[in-house]
Amino acid sequence: MEAKTSKVAIVGAGAVGSTLAYAGLMRGFARTVALYDINKAKVEAEALDLAQGIQFMPEAKVLGSDDVAVVEGSDVVVVTAGAKQQPGQSRMELAGATISLMDKVMPPLLEAAPNAIFILVTNPVDVVTYAAIKKSGADPARMFGSGTVLDSSRLRHQISQEVNVAVGNVHAYIAGEHGDSEVALWSSATIGGVPLTEWVDENGVVVMTDEVRQRIHHDVVQSAYTIINGKGATNYAIGAAGARIVEAVLGDQHRVLPVSTLVDFAGVGEVCMSLPAIVGRAGIVQKVEVRLSPSEHAALASSARSIRETAVKFGAE
Ligand code: 2OP
Repeated sequence: MEAKTSKVAIVGAGAVGSTLAYAGLMRGFARTVALYDINKAKVEAEALDLAQGIQFMPEAKVLGSDDVAVVEGSDVVVVTAGAKQQPGQSRMELAGATISLMDKVMPPLLEAAPNAIFILVTNPVDVVTYAAIKKSGADPARMFGSGTVLDSSRLRHQISQEVNVAVGNVHAYIAGEHGDSEVALWSSATIGGVPLTEWVDENGVVVMTDEVRQRIHHDVVQSAYTIINGKGATNYAIGAAGARIVEAVLGDQHRVLPVSTLVDFAGVGEVCMSLPAIVGRAGIVQKVEVRLSPSEHAALASSARSIRETAVKFGAE
């Protein structure tokens, strides 16, 4: 009898989906990786190109098909298919086209992999995740978005460069919308266990001043626009972020990640937005109550309102 091994399906064999597959395969995140895309030639080519590198990766089987049957039996389904953000275009401007796409794409995926954990990456990811949950009636613990995992990685990298400390010793979250209204949670950030705002350089001078924090937040929010202007799309960091989320699920790692989950935000209503949560084999295991400063709470409320307005405007409920 063939042993049941882990299977990840990635919907969309574009830049993000194929890079996420590559990042995951290099880390051995699953025994079988199935790429699904309506473009038969593209998805078969991506799968073949990946498969021909398996000698240099942890052993895995790579499949690629334009038939949704390739998704069958998946433990995790990552949805990356969607409209591409054009230079200068905001993620929210993609909402109309993407929600319609989800209406078409999600039902056959849920039928093919009814027991899977679903991770939405498609932008605008908060609105897309909300629409997917509401329209499918899925358990919100088992369907969530990549959210600001990527943005938090960008924030930690920027801080790391500013203070010349390894990223692994920087703990900081971006929360709220994966987009223009995202919020840096400075008050809970630490560097090597030291509260970020108290960090000093070798001369005892405070580094993370208001001005530095504002510049870093601006640069993080603008990152995608900058990269899209230069190379047409982002793929490496979002691919690696997605692979990390899949690992947390399949490895039951109970890793705290700022993924986009369904919350009832006081004064706003139901919305999907990113707040730190424990991610494991069951999906969202537990929400983490991060202490917020009054300004952070206000900014998150504003971000929640912005997401909900778009969700309601495009019939995501
Ligand atoms: C990013 O932030 C475009 O949402 C994508 O890289």
